[in-house]
Amino acid sequence: MSTTDAGFDERYLSGRELYGDDFVQAEIDAWFEDEREGFANLGSSAADGSGVDPEPQDEPGLCGYDAFNVRHAFRHLPSGRLGDALGIGSAFASEFWPISDRLDSLTVLEPSHQLRARRLGRLPLNYVDPVPSGVMPFDDASFDLAVSFGVLHHIPNVTKVVDEVRRVLRPGGYFLLREPIHSMGDWRQPRRGLTARERGIPRPILDRLVRERFEVVASTPIDFPLWPRLGTLDQKPNVLLDELLARAFSWNYRYHATTRSQKFRPRGMAMVLRRPTKS
Ligand SMILES: C[S@@+](CC[C@H](N)C(=O)[O-])C[C@H]1O[C@@H](n2cnc3c(N)ncnc32)[C@H](O)[C@@H]1O
Repeated sequence: MSTTDAGFDERYLSGRELYGDDFVQAEIDAWFEDEREGFANLGSSAADGSGVDPEPQDEPGLCGYDAFNVRHAFRHLPSGRLGDALGIGSAFASEFWPISDRLDSLTVLEPSHQLRARRLGRLPLNYVDPVPSGVMPFDDASFDLAVSFGVLHHIPNVTKVVDEVRRVLRPGGYFLLREPIHSMGDWRQPRRGLTARERGIPRPILDRLVRERFEVVASTPIDFPLWPRLGTLDQKPNVLLDELLARAFSWNYRYHATTRSQKFRPRGMAMVLRRPTKS
């Protein structure tokens, strides 16, 4: 369907269907190409304009979301060693700092060649390029932990990628997921500070997608629209206030807000998921 067709709003901006998830391969390829360095080019990159890939950073800097990620994801993991981890769209892998000492290996599936580091503490980082089809170049049951913080909404074929996460996780393995669940504006127009294609995943669609494939250990509405105006989410009190407000205003959830009052609702979900031990 063309973005100008009558019915586009009704199907996609309403949140009834996930835009991109039903694309044919040529459309997926075009989207993937736009997003390959899309996030890097927003300003967080080390690119110097020469067109040559920059050298990876030696080590990532601080993440800035540690308190947020500990509260909504890492604290739900079992204690002790966490085994082999896969970071999907983890860029420099700084989101893994809070658990870096407990990992045996870390593989990062990341299209950008600008957002790469050599190691995380004592752990060498192994980068792998994703492919547009969403098929992950790993054997079944390769990882104990997969993390995707703010990534699936950059990908058209979300269902395929979530199927792949389940396949490459070992039975009992954990999948930590954080995604926007709002439209992020009308993505048919350029939006300031956003990549060309990113769009949130409607909450009922995200819920169904994960509940059909994983056990849900925790699922938390997050990202009430106060940040960064009131502060940042790198401090525990702000993280708790954000969760409180997001939960309190869940009743007002809608995918695409068009009035001011509609905007006061959770804009994201954080989920801790587990691949069932029996399938
Ligand atoms: C919003 S950033 C999130 C980065 C990091 N996870 C964080 O929370 O700071 C989105 C990331 O997804 C990556 N990305 C885009 N398309 C992807 C794909 N098809 N597969 C894996 N990662 C992708 C981008 O390069 C970028 O690093």
